[in-house]
Amino acid sequence: MAPTDDAKSPVRMEDLVALCARRGFIFQSSEIYGGINGFWDYGPLGVELKNNVKAFWWQRMVRGRDDVEGVDSSIICHPRTWEASGHVEHFSDPMVDCRTCKKRFRADQLDDRQCSRPDDCDFTEAKQFNLMLRTFIGASEDAASTAYLRPETCQPLFVDFKRVREAARQKLPFGLAQIGKAFRNEINPRNFIFRSREFEQMELEYFVHPSQREQWFEYWFEERQRWHRDLGFGDDALRTRAHEPDELAHYANAASDVEFLFPFGWQEIEGIHDRGDWDLSRHSEFSGKDLSMTDEETKEKFMPMVIETSVGVERTTLAILCNALREEELENGETRTVMHIPAFLAPIQVAVLPLSKKLGESARRLAEDLRRRFPAFYDEAGNIGRRYRRQDECGTPFCVTWDFDSEEDGQVTVRERDSMTQERISAEALAGWLFERLGMPA
Ligand code: GAP
Repeated sequence: MAPTDDAKSPVRMEDLVALCARRGFIFQSSEIYGGINGFWDYGPLGVELKNNVKAFWWQRMVRGRDDVEGVDSSIICHPRTWEASGHVEHFSDPMVDCRTCKKRFRADQLDDRQCSRPDDCDFTEAKQFNLMLRTFIGASEDAASTAYLRPETCQPLFVDFKRVREAARQKLPFGLAQIGKAFRNEINPRNFIFRSREFEQMELEYFVHPSQREQWFEYWFEERQRWHRDLGFGDDALRTRAHEPDELAHYANAASDVEFLFPFGWQEIEGIHDRGDWDLSRHSEFSGKDLSMTDEETKEKFMPMVIETSVGVERTTLAILCNALREEELENGETRTVMHIPAFLAPIQVAVLPLSKKLGESARRLAEDLRRRFPAFYDEAGNIGRRYRRQDECGTPFCVTWDFDSEEDGQVTVRERDSMTQERISAEALAGWLFERLGMPA
């Protein structure tokens, strides 16, 4: 059954935010100075989770294919890039000031504004506020030295299109892909990491002959949903939404969002866009370099069309965390907090827990051996039940207990996070056993 508009996430945002800080997934940037709005730091578990998300995307979108090439471009590009792309002119949100509380709000999101005296608000006329973050290059701070931190990662891919196509000897259809930082001076950053001022995007620009744009839009629309489903998102938490013509960005001919059911409602995590030939045509015009191609058979000159898939690392990470967090009643009446993060994405994939500190030497040796192949963690502090609970909150799919019998028979107990079942297996065979269970989906 298709998910409805009023469906509710089982997770409370405040529980998730508290767990993320407590376990060192994600917390406010510059926390000891009171934080800085719209910026976040990722601790030991958060950085591993984010890296695993990026590695999965890169494997599926770049390494696993021969028609997509990877690029890592600079964050600051020639300022003309952003004139050509339309960002200098169009990349703005309507903003109002409140004369009473002296705060700024997005004029199109006033219902959700965070204000302690909403009934007293007295707004100015809305004006357009450009979201690009500005900086200066070189010693002088004037208009001639103004540059922008990129607000999306895709523009350098269009600028690099000819160079990479020729270097990689690619023919249409083919794509360029990039993972990297993007910056937007959001008027109201909110919902934890969902809307930040600094974030990362994973973008593919797929170049096709104009006659094939519809078929490739369909292909990438399906392919990207497959990726989200492989992250563990079920039909109750994932849906797609086609943009109405009046919602389309200035460059887009068609667009569909992939939406996730967050605790704050259905929200976009990815956009799939038919950008037409807008970008290559504009960069050709503004740079004076012809980026068109010639059909080998008909000798017809044409500008390739672009199908884009653009997904945020932070929004995907937040969706994974929301999808994973559950409070579960145990048979003994206690509750456990557990993160059902898919095993291949887990920040720690295996924890080695000796039953007693006296067994530390052998257990440590096992952990060192596993660490060469998997993100492994060693913990000998506290009772075993508490150590299991700690790993449940970290999302660790397998805990391995080394006990007194292990010293004699070389067998260990593997406890699986979701079912909490335990299995006795040979320590020697453990790496192979884990390897079979921790791989990325193909
Ligand atoms: N190149 C097209 C583009 O940038 P977008 O819809 O503006 O399109 C794509 O952004 C994705 O980037 C979004 O679906 C979202 O996942 C992520 N994103 C955009 N703005 C964000 C923000 N302020 N904070 C976190 N992620 C953001």
